[in-house]
Amino acid sequence: GTKSLTKTRFTTSFVKTIRIRVLRPLETSPEWPSCEDKGGTSSLSASKWTTFLKASLICVDPVTKGNFNWLQDVFFVPASNWRHSKVYGLFTNTWGSSAVCVYSFGDIDNVFRTSRLKGYNGPNPEIKPGQCVSSGQHTPSETFKIADSHPEVEDRVEPLSPTKSPLFHNKHRYQKIGVHEVSASDGRRYNVLYLATDKGSIHKIVELPDGVQNIMELQVFPKKDPIQSMILDHKRAMLYIGSTDKVVEIPMDMCRVYRNNCDSCLLARDPYCGWFNGSCQSVYLNREVRQNLNLEPWQGKCQNGDIKEDDFQTITVVPFSRYYLNCPIESHYATYNWYHNNSLIKTCNTTHPQQDCFHFIQNVSHIHYGRYVCISEEDGFRQALVKEHLVNQLRFMSQKGQATMTFGSWLQLLLMVVLVELFH
Ligand SMILES: *[C@@H]1O[C@H](CO)[C@@H](O)[C@H](O)[C@H]1NC(C)=O
Ligand SMILES: *[C@@H]1O[C@H](CO)[C@@H](O)[C@H](O)[C@H]1NC(C)=O
Ligand SMILES: *[C@@H]1O[C@H](CO)[C@@H](O)[C@H](O)[C@H]1NC(C)=O
Ligand SMILES: *[C@@H]1O[C@H](CO)[C@@H](O)[C@H](O)[C@H]1NC(C)=O
Repeated sequence: GTKSLTKTRFTTSFVKTIRIRVLRPLETSPEWPSCEDKGGTSSLSASKWTTFLKASLICVDPVTKGNFNWLQDVFFVPASNWRHSKVYGLFTNTWGSSAVCVYSFGDIDNVFRTSRLKGYNGPNPEIKPGQCVSSGQHTPSETFKIADSHPEVEDRVEPLSPTKSPLFHNKHRYQKIGVHEVSASDGRRYNVLYLATDKGSIHKIVELPDGVQNIMELQVFPKKDPIQSMILDHKRAMLYIGSTDKVVEIPMDMCRVYRNNCDSCLLARDPYCGWFNGSCQSVYLNREVRQNLNLEPWQGKCQNGDIKEDDFQTITVVPFSRYYLNCPIESHYATYNWYHNNSLIKTCNTTHPQQDCFHFIQNVSHIHYGRYVCISEEDGFRQALVKEHLVNQLRFMSQKGQATMTFGSWLQLLLMVVLVELFH
């Protein structure tokens, strides 16, 4: 049910060119323009396309005005209205940084339809280069001549409004891009970008309401073998990554990597994963999972709800004693934060190298009890490393007693209900 519609080539000033072939989804896009590019008919124009034109894509950092000139890869994301379909362009610059700019198909179409040809001042031919002819009609050879000598349009395509700036840019040198859409438990759809680095790893980057976040780095090949190809299987939510001699299959919903602790699962802000019944689960297995994708703070989300979600280590501490909270430093590029009852109480970073991130309580009093979490953050990747619930020994024991009492009275109540039922 698909056929090739247009052949379009994008270039920027210095770049290798990349060809996009758009496949027309017949069932979903009734308003896709009906136009077939069958090429020329004469021996000279037989191998040429009437719609073969080039337009430059602009991708500029608005702050530094730095240009990302080198188009590395593109990814097409179709929409039911073809004008809203998007083209994700992956660019690099001379310093090896990357940027992703997103263009709408409507804007690209406008540029091709309305722009003058670069450097062409002659009279407009009957059929403009790039213009679709209806089937049966022939493109005059004059059109091919002009398209041959002036293959580029003057206007350039700007990234999507309102910002008209890159979706993001960073210091990694990416080579390939793929985009997958996932429906999260809030019913909203999120775009997840997969970017292949030049070091054999994949970055998983998600578009969230407050901007993009890099949520995972996956080293695919142990020896940093360069990634030659990356294919997305949208239906099965799988990623296929190829090197020169291997192909690996990676599920997009890898939720086990988040340490199977509730805070790490929510902090990751991975739209494929959420917390349910004591584990970090895939939304494809369970749509009821608890996630943290909107602008609300993550703190405390793991503590309400059923007791199974409270995966804190309970530690009894007597009043007036000393206590050390200890968070192991695993990476010298990360920042470590201690939270007490969801408020930040201490930050450790490696400007002062130290063994671990300590928080010392000199003289434990009632205000020191409660929940402590140590969160590490590196390059956007966040996880909860230590979770401790400090309780007062006496109160802890009395709470336990209370729980047994409640359980006992509940049993009694149940027994009474059963007896009443029997007597009926
Ligand atoms: C919760 O997990 C336990 C195992 O840890 C399982 O026995 C139980 O059926 C699960 N409950 C639900 C509602 O999925
Ligand atoms: C700890 O604090 C209590 C009162 O808050 C005080 O009586 C006690 O002397 C303190 N202990 C130490 C070791 O400072
Ligand atoms: C490191 O911590 C100090 C205070 O402890 C803070 O002033 C500084 O900004 C931190 N640096 C980074 C990179 O977080
Ligand atoms: C933290 O919470 C615990 C119990 O929930 C409470 O006893 C303690 O006073 C709280 N401390 C602060 C500083 O909020």
